Amino acid sequence: MGCNRAHNPDIFSSVQSRNPPRHPSSKQRKCQFRPWPPTTPRLTPRKACGINAGQRTKGRNLKIKVFVTRPIPQRALDLLAAHCEVQVHPSDSALKPVQLGEACRDVEGLLAVGVRVNEEVLSQAGKLRVVANCGVGYDNIDVAACTRRKIVVTNTPCVLTDTTADLAFALLMAVARRVVEADRFVREGRWQRWEFGMMWGADIHHKALGIWGFGRIGQAMARRGRGFDMKILYHSRRRADQALEREGGARFVDRDTLLRESDFLCLHTPMTPETHHLIGANELKLMKPSAFLINTARGKVIDEEALVAALRAKTIAGAGLDVFEHEPHLHPELAKLANVVLLPHVGSATGETRLAMAMLAAENLIAALDGRRPPNVVNVEVFD
Ligand code: 8YV
Repeated sequence: MGCNRAHNPDIFSSVQSRNPPRHPSSKQRKCQFRPWPPTTPRLTPRKACGINAGQRTKGRNLKIKVFVTRPIPQRALDLLAAHCEVQVHPSDSALKPVQLGEACRDVEGLLAVGVRVNEEVLSQAGKLRVVANCGVGYDNIDVAACTRRKIVVTNTPCVLTDTTADLAFALLMAVARRVVEADRFVREGRWQRWEFGMMWGADIHHKALGIWGFGRIGQAMARRGRGFDMKILYHSRRRADQALEREGGARFVDRDTLLRESDFLCLHTPMTPETHHLIGANELKLMKPSAFLINTARGKVIDEEALVAALRAKTIAGAGLDVFEHEPHLHPELAKLANVVLLPHVGSATGETRLAMAMLAAENLIAALDGRRPPNVVNVEVFD
């Protein structure tokens, strides 16, 4: 069954949403949004496109071309179209770098949704001034190459924090309580009678929730864990300040303690060279045989070969995975295992959040094209 957009008719039509998205200017937990329109001084990373914040009207400056790599909600397209000439790749599939480069030949702005923006793309996109990524993680973008060309890179933090943490917690619960396995059991007509010993899972409440990476999503996960009376442990590159620790009820521990003591180990790190295969055979060996590993960050944070071996040998109890090392390709052994729950990278996939992401990406893009500093710049150096 393909993805069903019928749940969200608003997303791909111009009809206004009955539940307006969380706009960056609305108050979000812990997030510092700049108001829209921003009050920051005008800056010129390459050259200003000549739109003044106060002068915008629909249909102005149609000489500025932007390319959107997939269909996005109509409201975000309308916002873009009020400022620029917008071209949208009509299919919800990833363009290859060579095709993307071709599409970007003449554009100054790129709204990147689920595409790789590398040298091959950039070398063809001589006019490009901004890459607005529709996602908080930006490992799909060669930021250094953009910076060398003075191209602004932006992302969409904050608007997807709670949604992604919700999904991480859903995965945790699903794998611990064998929800997917039990659903399959019932659907397939294998349930003949109730049994006392049927489908025993593992408790979640009062267990140790280990969080690796204590950024926004990690902290949101801690708040969810507290609601379940869990003991919250975390590890991250830098220890969080005490107020954040207090709010999350979280205790900082070293990595080995996190691995040894977590009943549920949840990964919330960004994808960087340092986090590649953060969890490998040695780390898995330190985990409890009763522990579960949850990953909604990036697939390459886990050495999947080592994970499959650990799951098969039951040196850990199970895993909930929303991301994969070679996604969308699945390790052939993973699908054979009962003690895993596997999702197709849907951490931020709710109607409200995808709309909020698209709106924020559009706002970032417009701000940069307008010569202003966008709310969510990744490579601030381009403004030096
Ligand atoms: C995006 C994500 O949907 O924000 C992220 O980092 O992984 C997802 O929310 C994905 O990056 C596609 O843009």
